[in-house]
Amino acid sequence: MRRIPKVIIIGVKKCGTRALLEYLKLHPLIKAPGPEPHFFDRNYHRGLDWYRSKMPATNDHEITIEKTPRYFVSQDVPEKIYNLSPNVKLVVVIRDPVVRAISDFTQAVSKNEVKSNQTFRRRVLRRDGDINTHSSIVKTGIYVRYLTTWFQYFGRSNIHIVSGEDLIANPLGVLETVQDFIGVQREIDGNLIYFNKTRGFPCIRMLKRNNTAKCFGATKGRNHVQTDSATLKRLYDFYRPYNQYLFKFMNKTFEWNVLQKIIN
Ligand code: A3P
Repeated sequence: MRRIPKVIIIGVKKCGTRALLEYLKLHPLIKAPGPEPHFFDRNYHRGLDWYRSKMPATNDHEITIEKTPRYFVSQDVPEKIYNLSPNVKLVVVIRDPVVRAISDFTQAVSKNEVKSNQTFRRRVLRRDGDINTHSSIVKTGIYVRYLTTWFQYFGRSNIHIVSGEDLIANPLGVLETVQDFIGVQREIDGNLIYFNKTRGFPCIRMLKRNNTAKCFGATKGRNHVQTDSATLKRLYDFYRPYNQYLFKFMNKTFEWNVLQKIIN
């Protein structure tokens, strides 16, 4: 039977959502569709049967998970999900918002979505040098603005926040917390996830395919576009108060200063 998800990875774009889902699929009870269904943001008009048809067939005791990072920033999605599944469990991956912005822009460049004269600096700063708060690349990193709405609907106990940096540095540790949150036994085999020096990221050992590595394709772990330190500093200054508010709100702090150290 195809079932609507019990768990949704709602975002955030370019924070490690694909890697998290691929790791979770190593759990014997976790099943997920390949592509992002985009049901609550783009395909809502197609109806629940359409959504269900995109899900894998599962048994009673198996858990369906989907991920669509755009849900996180889509205004009416929290309410739509709540109306359908008020008890759904939500997972959010967040990373240093400055790095996230660069990653997002890098992806847009590689998809040819950026005009040739456009630079990261021009995208995130206005002509007068202030931050362009209308740019989605900037807005998406104001995590606390979106999270407060999600928390209003779903409460703290149904939302689990994952550090994108930890997901790279310590995927197994992160997966333990996510399995606990989902309410499944910790059954993801740690031997299947290993650090691949060439890629510079963890990859998955595919037992069924002669142990060949499954990494996350050319669209993850790209070399980031270069930008100047003044732009980075402006962005760090811009995000700082939002980050502080976020850390207070979460009761937890993340070390988001890798690039900041470089510019100091
Ligand atoms: P970069 O491409 O900027 O390095 P998403 O899947 O949400 O689009 O996130 C993409 C990001 O996932 C990548 O951003 C990368 O930093 C991060 N990531 C986390 N674990 C990864 C892994 N094992 N392989 C590749 N990228 C990974």
